[in-house]
Amino acid sequence: AQVDKAGYKHFMAKEIAEQPTVLQGALAHYINADGTAVTLPEPGIDFTQIERLTLVACGTAYYACMVAKYWFEQIARLPVEIDVASEFRYREPPVTPGTVALFVSQSGETADTLAALRYMEGKADKILSVVNVPESSIARESDLALPILAGTEIGVASTKAFTCQLTTLAILALKAAQARGHMDEDALAEKLAGLRALPGIMNLALQIESRTDQLATKLAEARDILFLGRGAMYPLAHEGALKLKEISYIHAEAYASGELKHGPIALVDKHVPVIVMAPRDALFDKTISNMQEVMARGGKVLLITDAEGAKEAGEGVWETILMPEIDPFLAPILYALPAQLLAYHTAVAKGTDVDQPRNLAKSVTVE
Ligand code: G6P
Repeated sequence: AQVDKAGYKHFMAKEIAEQPTVLQGALAHYINADGTAVTLPEPGIDFTQIERLTLVACGTAYYACMVAKYWFEQIARLPVEIDVASEFRYREPPVTPGTVALFVSQSGETADTLAALRYMEGKADKILSVVNVPESSIARESDLALPILAGTEIGVASTKAFTCQLTTLAILALKAAQARGHMDEDALAEKLAGLRALPGIMNLALQIESRTDQLATKLAEARDILFLGRGAMYPLAHEGALKLKEISYIHAEAYASGELKHGPIALVDKHVPVIVMAPRDALFDKTISNMQEVMARGGKVLLITDAEGAKEAGEGVWETILMPEIDPFLAPILYALPAQLLAYHTAVAKGTDVDQPRNLAKSVTVE
């Protein structure tokens, strides 16, 4: 069916706004009606037999893999390796017994990701994929394809596919944690309830849109922007920088907050906005102290956190975006929204072609 903008100025705006709805559909697909169990398509996955998970993708899908690494390692105690497909396919990685490979792709047709999948054929115990297009080559060549159910995504800069990829991977990590004996039924039910509440919290979070619109006029003047995060927010910093580069053409870089002092702090001055993604998780205090190092050097910090976090962060922050409170496990999904909205409004402020940015393609089917 033909997809239109449904009254939005761009497909990207429509796709950002759609996230609570499509996410709800994805959750209903994998979580049973009473919210206590995860159901995967046949033949399922036996997580007790897995020694190592290899996650491979490109672009935004790669950042979804990067978040998933934190999840699988932390809650399922499963060693995870990640790589971008263009590197993975040529570095001839040795594959040890018990390895399961998982490929994440919105289109299911990205040439490098497909080639990486074919490299793993006959080497990995199983090939899984997390895709938006169930008829795609990557889906067809996998032993098990998990749909993300984001619906057609038109904007070249991926938004709803990213949050649906994350949601599917979070559900998979919970399933793995339970199967491997690291999460009991009650804890699983609690996490699943948190996931099911996420579309509602996302709707609340979308109210930051007018705030991101205001801030965008300031960001649009910057030549360089730094994004900082720690733990599972580090990949989100990458995703924020990628979105901004793709559609506003402003140079943006992501750094793990703790690496700041090993280089990028040399870039900090009053002209460089530094966007700090800091939900109140176990690493919050450390992120805040990195933020203060930036401020001590005259850097302009845009802090993204919740009300309590903003209070704890104290004075001297340039600008703040206030997010709803969220279980740190789910923060990477929720904090995708400010990353997307800041990029979107900055691009609109600069007058770029948001849905069709220069030099980029929605799906890269050649090497
Ligand atoms: C292109 C798109 C990105 C996407 C990447 C991977 O670069 O512009 O938005 O993240 O390809 O695409 P895939 O379809 O494999 O997720």
